[in-house]
Amino acid sequence: MESIQVHDKTFVPYLTADQISERVAELAKQISEEYKEKRPLLLAVLNGSFMFAADLFRLLTIDAEISFIKIASYQGMRSSGKVVTAIGMEQDLSGRDILLIEDIVDTGKTLHHFIPTLLQQHPASVQVATFLHKPDATLFPVSLTYVGFRIPNRFVVGYGLDYDGLGRNHRQVYQLAPGVSEES
Ligand code: IMP
Repeated sequence: MESIQVHDKTFVPYLTADQISERVAELAKQISEEYKEKRPLLLAVLNGSFMFAADLFRLLTIDAEISFIKIASYQGMRSSGKVVTAIGMEQDLSGRDILLIEDIVDTGKTLHHFIPTLLQQHPASVQVATFLHKPDATLFPVSLTYVGFRIPNRFVVGYGLDYDGLGRNHRQVYQLAPGVSEES
């Protein structure tokens, strides 16, 4: 595998397509076992998770539903700060076993703010499956049940993940080249 250029930055190969598909298959097997007879509702968080969600979903061997949502956050009227809403979440979630599908958990901010919004709808359970996790970047604690790969705190693209809109279409994951600054 060769390096790639995305906008102004160079990225080097990090996870191969084979490593990814092997790991996604393991996660699908584990989820199929643990959600047997629960008919989970997977909520895939757009945009980044679409590739992981599709690959994972097609390998599930149980009855399962999937829906795609977009998380939007805005400053609320109260001093309590951020209000987080999801676009595309029309289904009734009460009593459902929800599995949130993420591309990457970085600081944890998105999910840390979104999960309480989900819980207001009284689902039976909420768990998270994320393709990537950067444990060293954590600022907001989030409990992650299924993690594809734990990676260092360095920017990555590919397999759905982008740098300023580009790089999502690669089947592999690439990491910012050594010595290249994360500042744009
Ligand atoms: P968090 O709220 O800080 O956990 O950030 C999660 C979101 O930040 C992800 O869904 C991505 O859209 C984006 N993100 C964080 N790190 C990366 C990365 O290395 N590559 C691409 N997107 C990233």
